[in-house]
Amino acid sequence: MYKTLLDVGFLLAAIAFITGLRRLSTPATARKGNILAGIAMVGAIVIALIYPLGGETPAVNYGWIAGGMLIGSAIGWMAAKRVQMTAMPQLVSIFNGLGGACAVLLAVLEMFKASADYKLGIAISVFTLIVGAVSFTGSILAYLKLDGKVRDKNVILPGHTYINLILLVATLVIAVLYTMAPSQALLVGLIILSLVYGFSFVAPIGGADMPVVISLLNSLTGISAATAGFIYGNQIMIIGGILVGASGTILTVLMCQAMNRSLLNVIIGGFGSAGSGSSAGDSMDGKVAKEVSSYDAAVMLNYSTSVMIVPGYGLAVAQAQKVCKELDELLAENNVDVNYAIHPVAGRMPGHMNVLLAEADVPYSKLKDLDEANAMLPATDVVVIVGANDVVNPSALDDPGSPVYGMPVLKVWEAKNVIIMKRSMSPGYAGIQNPLFFNDNSSMFFGDAKDSINKLVDEIKSLG
Ligand code: TAP
Repeated sequence: MYKTLLDVGFLLAAIAFITGLRRLSTPATARKGNILAGIAMVGAIVIALIYPLGGETPAVNYGWIAGGMLIGSAIGWMAAKRVQMTAMPQLVSIFNGLGGACAVLLAVLEMFKASADYKLGIAISVFTLIVGAVSFTGSILAYLKLDGKVRDKNVILPGHTYINLILLVATLVIAVLYTMAPSQALLVGLIILSLVYGFSFVAPIGGADMPVVISLLNSLTGISAATAGFIYGNQIMIIGGILVGASGTILTVLMCQAMNRSLLNVIIGGFGSAGSGSSAGDSMDGKVAKEVSSYDAAVMLNYSTSVMIVPGYGLAVAQAQKVCKELDELLAENNVDVNYAIHPVAGRMPGHMNVLLAEADVPYSKLKDLDEANAMLPATDVVVIVGANDVVNPSALDDPGSPVYGMPVLKVWEAKNVIIMKRSMSPGYAGIQNPLFFNDNSSMFFGDAKDSINKLVDEIKSLG
């Protein structure tokens, strides 16, 4: 009876996880969805803790568990409180890596306990160990790269793809040998090889592709948690792991599609790892980018009918979302229709722009997705690009030699005027020149995005 009640509790927690995840799909319900999933997780942990009190299973040392939970919660709480929005991918990566490390420890403990004759149990533990270890070291390297602590070129070896293939085959061979005849020497070899493979797997991937890799590693951690759930016969671990594994996989596929890249192309690496700045400059094919003054830009905006704001990574860096809303409200008072064009991979993580604009209370109805925005752009008077670059690069459509060729982009050049806010002529994430800057209807508004918008707001106010 006791266990049945707790199993029902697990089931309710699983339903709450799924409902919470479902609610994450739109900004309007995302916050509540996150809270619901968090409550379900607390519930699932409590049930897991009191489960052994029903007998049969060995006694549990609650002191150790409480100590670990306290330390872990304190570190997690502080890290999440302090993190800047722009550093969110790094935090996700570290948390994910720790999940992989947990799976490795659980698998190793089970391997010590398992009988050599129970081949299926050993195979599941081996799988959990390999996937968890790859996710652990891969995520740590992803964190180091994203945080600028490791440069791509310092960890890429000549013929790296072949090195990775050899490491993968060697890991699989040892995994099979261990499953057939477990020994401590093979176990140590398996742990070392899996850890090295995780590191080496991420090494050739450009810093720029890290969000995709993090999402992939995240799904691997989910899978290893699910298989660890099989080892322990714990349903909630299996369900939670499968949900993380499936959502991570879906996100990986969606990000690849939005960048028009195959997953294999991302994994083999190359894109976005090139040194930035080299290919951008002040002129292109004899054309020089022209500048606009804050006064002229303010006049252009104030006397227009429709304005489309295109936020990008620079909006996040400058934390310009609140002033953007102020500009929007000021223009709306003058009967200008203001909307926001949201590219699916603008910024550095999925939904980055939605999160920032929601933080500034920009109504969700003003956020237009790629297709909606592209349909509206030809009838738009002024486009204001706030720190976006690659997502408005026309080379994606007309230059087959460009690394971004094929990526769907916002066709801002179809609007009557385009104002581009950025600090310099530096390239964006893909490290490439943007011909948009040299168009006749484009003008550059140099400076930090927040300062630039503040200047515009002041000018518009003084226009009366
Ligand atoms: P980017 O192409 O990276 O361009 C951002 C621009 O912002 C830069 O050109 C930079 O120019 C400017 N900037 C930086 N700080 C600024 C500041 N304080 N004020 C004003 N401007 C500033 O950004 P995007 O257009 O958003 O494109 C995103 C890129 O990330 C795409 O290539 C996409 O494929 C990639 N990516 C995104 C994701 C997700 S999920 N979002 C995942 C993987 C890859 P200056 O230095 O001259 O100011």
